[in-house]
Amino acid sequence: MDLLQHMTERARSLQRSVVLAEGTEPRTLRAANRVLSEGLAQVILIGDAAEIKALAASEGLESIGAAKIVDPKDPAIIDRYAPILLELRKSKGMTEEQSRKTAADPLYLGCLMVKAGDAYCMVAGAENTTGDVLRAAFQVIKTRPGIDVVSGAFIMIMPEGVDYGTNGVMIMGDCAVVPNPDARQLAQIAVSSAETARNIAGIEPRVAMLSYSTKGSGKGEDVDKVVEATRIAHEMAPELNIDGELQADAALVPVVAAKKAPDSNVAGQANVLVFPSLEVGNIAYKLVQRIAGAQAVGPVLQGLAAPVNDLSRGASWEDIYKTIIMTCNQ
Ligand code: ACO
Repeated sequence: MDLLQHMTERARSLQRSVVLAEGTEPRTLRAANRVLSEGLAQVILIGDAAEIKALAASEGLESIGAAKIVDPKDPAIIDRYAPILLELRKSKGMTEEQSRKTAADPLYLGCLMVKAGDAYCMVAGAENTTGDVLRAAFQVIKTRPGIDVVSGAFIMIMPEGVDYGTNGVMIMGDCAVVPNPDARQLAQIAVSSAETARNIAGIEPRVAMLSYSTKGSGKGEDVDKVVEATRIAHEMAPELNIDGELQADAALVPVVAAKKAPDSNVAGQANVLVFPSLEVGNIAYKLVQRIAGAQAVGPVLQGLAAPVNDLSRGASWEDIYKTIIMTCNQ
């Protein structure tokens, strides 16, 4: 069974409730219809009920009738969720009036439903920017204990015949959120990416902290940052198999590893690649996806206190369907 099949079966058995904040967005609705027709999760759609029903009817999405619809214009809904937001944000100067207005924003409302325990997870971003989805999640869901930096990893599934990682599966992070992490943030990204490897991809992490230098072969502030991040990550998670700084070839290719980092128990067999900055990570995962033909599942937002995932605005309905399944697995 491949990873996606495994996650699909797991979602079906978990029967989690997922809130889709963009309930009137056609690709989202089509993905929700498939999730419902296959019995993979309970679906909550945020949006105008009449609009959702009309769209579902015109597209022939017969399973949408099984979704729960939450209307952000319903005063009773705002009465329930605005006080939760006010409590979270009043120290930042939010007034009651602002909390009622913000709670009616579907992205905030979705996060508030998760915060209140009325939904397990949220998926959004087919029509909102990454920044808007992330800000709502940061402010409402917040980070889980021990982590104060949210980051985004991709589960990369290699094409047939390319056997890097474990059974062709690798984790790459951060590819989505933190532009210029300092050493402490980079260490957290490493620990979170290892957890994603273990908990979502089902592989035992071997984490490579990537750089343009392997074990002192190059010099510079950027190298120092990766060395320091590796040290902090060791402190945070002493049991974790992690090493750095390593170049990408030393991390992945056994014969190169034997020359450049012979004493490393990660080099040559890494299955979690941690990039020194968002610029590197975002470019690298897209190159692997496009040039090597790998599937990129994600980004998996890691470090939040509850699962929320952001979609690309260019996502197809199949991408949204997969993201829903993955989020229900988190
Ligand atoms: N983890 C946890 N909390 C965070 C993080 C983070 N990584 N970043 C910001 N926050 C918190 C802030 O502390 C703040 O909290 P507060 O209001 O309680 O004080 C809140 O979130 C909002 O902070 P802002 O300063 O408004 O947000 P910021 O300007 O830092 O923007 C953002 C955050 C939008 C995520 C920014 O870092 C960003 O744009 N990152 C790049 C996103 C991107 O473009 N990715 C590439 C595309 S995605 C793809 O290709 C897959």
